[in-house]
Amino acid sequence: MSLKNVRLEVMQFLEKDVESLIEKYLIPIEKIWQPSDFLPNSEGDNFFEEVKEIRELSKELPYDFWVVLVGDMITEEALPTYESWLMDVEGVNQVDRENAWGKWVRHWTGEENRHGDVLNKYLYLSGRVNMREVEKTTQYLIADGFDIGTDRDPYKNFVYTSFQELATYISHNRVAKIAKKSGNKQLGKMCQIISGDEMRHHHAYSEFVERIFKVDPSQMMMAFHYMMKQKITMPAVFLRESGGKIGTAFEEFSNTAQRIGVYTSKDYVDILQKLIDRWEIDKITNLTDEAEKARDYLMKLPSRMLRLADRIKIPENSFEFKWVEPAIIK
Ligand SMILES: [Fe+2]
Ligand SMILES: [Fe+2]
Repeated sequence: MSLKNVRLEVMQFLEKDVESLIEKYLIPIEKIWQPSDFLPNSEGDNFFEEVKEIRELSKELPYDFWVVLVGDMITEEALPTYESWLMDVEGVNQVDRENAWGKWVRHWTGEENRHGDVLNKYLYLSGRVNMREVEKTTQYLIADGFDIGTDRDPYKNFVYTSFQELATYISHNRVAKIAKKSGNKQLGKMCQIISGDEMRHHHAYSEFVERIFKVDPSQMMMAFHYMMKQKITMPAVFLRESGGKIGTAFEEFSNTAQRIGVYTSKDYVDILQKLIDRWEIDKITNLTDEAEKARDYLMKLPSRMLRLADRIKIPENSFEFKWVEPAIIK
């Protein structure tokens, strides 16, 4: 049987448990938080005072912070790219509404959609960013799509999502801490609750991988190896500002995130180590020779990468984005 057919069979085998995994990892719509829980109530009499407070508190946060929050928001707003990508993975099917994988993707998307929504509204109210420039970048990013090197392979895609959900947990959580430190409790709470969602999603995708390791260990190991060897590219890798070429804003965005410690190359290595520990890569048995070699490579990778991460130098000065105008930042 071809590798592709084995993957399809594995996806079908796991599908029977996906309903229960949705219950375990996702929160019913009637119970989960909504963006308006964290934003001024526009029907209320205090709306303008609440907005004023947001605008005042926003002045306390530095330039790089806004750049990172904008970049994080745009990454969340490119959700159409991620949903359509996942719907196209082998074994996921949206034509058949009974396909539990399709249901997972729809429900996951529904949860994720709230992240860009709440951040977008907050940024709009903050008065700190040039929304039109931000909106153009979002439209560019969706139009440019992404290339994450996972093909339609569920194994590679689930390694990617396990990694990415943890990466977004880290960045939203750090943003929350910076906001709280500056006295902005509301923004802190908002970003913290987003990070909680990301953590649940991380656990879900990690469990998918765990289950695949149980039934197809060698191929799962090869897929993990493949993804880490080519490196996990960030979903916003094609980020650009208006007038810029594809991908030109990404490096400066990621430098900014490193500079304020929201997401660093050390975090990348930590995530890799967490995945290795979580999936107990050292204990997996019944591997082919090739998969044994892949395991060895993976086990040694974090320390190798850590040495490289130590050497990376980040520019000290802020990069000026069209999204945030220095003149309006205190
Ligand atoms: Fe998200
Ligand atoms: Fe997420």
